[in-house]
Amino acid sequence: MLKLMPKISEHALAELKLQLDSRPTVRGSGDEGNVVTPIIEKLLVTLEFGQLDRVPQFKANSSPSRKSDIACRYPDKEGNNFFQQQKDPFLLVELKSTGQQLSLNSPHYWKAFAQLKEQLLGNNAMSAHFGLISNGWELQLFKRFHKVVHPATSILSLNTQNAQEVSNCLLRILQEDKRGIIIGVYNNKGGIGKTTLTTNLGIVLAQSQKKVLLVDFDPNQADLTDSLQQPVVEGKVWNFLKGKVPGKAIIQHCSFSQGKQQVQFDLIPADKSFLESHDVKIQQEIRLEFLRNRLKELSKDYDYILIDMPPNWRWFAQAGVQASDTLLVPASHIDRASLRNLEALVTNFIPQVNQRRAALEEGGPNLLPLVLNQYQHTDAQARNCYRYLADIVAKNNEWKDAFNNFFYMPPKRFRRGQHCFELPYKIEICRAPLEGPKYVPAPLRYRRAKQVYEHLIREVLL
Ligand SMILES: Nc1ncnc2c1ncn2[C@@H]1O[C@H](COP(=O)(O)OP(=O)(O)OP(=O)(O)O)[C@@H](O)[C@H]1O
Ligand SMILES: [Mg+2]
Repeated sequence: MLKLMPKISEHALAELKLQLDSRPTVRGSGDEGNVVTPIIEKLLVTLEFGQLDRVPQFKANSSPSRKSDIACRYPDKEGNNFFQQQKDPFLLVELKSTGQQLSLNSPHYWKAFAQLKEQLLGNNAMSAHFGLISNGWELQLFKRFHKVVHPATSILSLNTQNAQEVSNCLLRILQEDKRGIIIGVYNNKGGIGKTTLTTNLGIVLAQSQKKVLLVDFDPNQADLTDSLQQPVVEGKVWNFLKGKVPGKAIIQHCSFSQGKQQVQFDLIPADKSFLESHDVKIQQEIRLEFLRNRLKELSKDYDYILIDMPPNWRWFAQAGVQASDTLLVPASHIDRASLRNLEALVTNFIPQVNQRRAALEEGGPNLLPLVLNQYQHTDAQARNCYRYLADIVAKNNEWKDAFNNFFYMPPKRFRRGQHCFELPYKIEICRAPLEGPKYVPAPLRYRRAKQVYEHLIREVLL
């Protein structure tokens, strides 16, 4: 069905263009208030936020940290406006001065993103779905899904010529039906736990009443489909990607039980017809962005879509990363190559995908904290791993702020330095797939297995 383009008010657009025209040609550093704020206020009017729908200096956090420059919300069903109520914002805006360039390897960009994220996760902003950063010349819209904040557009430049197009693009996303998040699980090193993480994380999310779809996009191995003891298909996923069959026709419903416990989720299984085709034929028939387009349609019916990918950077991995809103990267603290691969991911693969998505006005994917999987360490091993990570970051100085996304500060631990999420080695996790008489996934069979994924979900997702 053709989606109707939202209509921007001509008057609001003319006012925005006027403001953009009067922008000084030299980009200064102390002009956040007198140049950037008026431009963004006019932009917000084109997005249908009237004067009573905006609050300046909104306290998104109850702690005494920085305030959000502007918060907005459309009137609610009863017609109450945000200015009166000053609660439940929908969009938070973080403004920077025009001299602070916003580009993917600029420190200003990552600082603005970190500030926006902190505010979006503030306890007075639980209702916020979107965040915007802008310096009056460039802007980017982000989407929030519980704890995860990911780009909704690429970094867009804003000028008189494209003002209408930019407003339309933002308004379309703000008015989009609510949808879940697409998380790609990827590292181009083999055997470090991508499939296990995808399966068990999905199952524990489903156990917490989330609607989950798992996607096996590694047809060569088909490990995800096989580990769930589901049949592979032939041709169905190929036709789904080409838009010839609807998602409903290819999705397999999975249900497992253990005693009184039950878990249900959906699966797009591996398609063996891909194995019979040369990569060139696949590329000719199926464009890289098709998987994202199809999964975005399906994401209206799910909270979480998790994609399992192969350990390389060929077509399936590229399409899987391109399809993701955000990436979950498992690595091993004792496997140097799995850590070294992060360098290629941050400095090469993600920028490639960002560029392809920017051509479609889309941003991302970005990164969730790194998962050090099968973590079972001596102090010396832990030190070596974090030192090697620090070396990788130091070696790629211009990307150091992008690498910071891999690290986070666990609330209860104050060891010096930066931290990754450490997912322990559990014998129950690797034992479950081979146990009989009937297959029961590890988190359903063993409490100890379930707990490690619950911890990951608490820290990173929900
Ligand atoms: N946290 C964990 N504790 C114990 N065993 C684990 C854990 N995570 C993964 N494993 C085991 O490690 C092995 C490799 O995992 P998995 O197949 O998920 O890796 P992969 O990255 O998907 O591999 P490939 O690159 O070949 O697709 C499996 O035997 C799995 O059971
Ligand atoms: Mg695998």
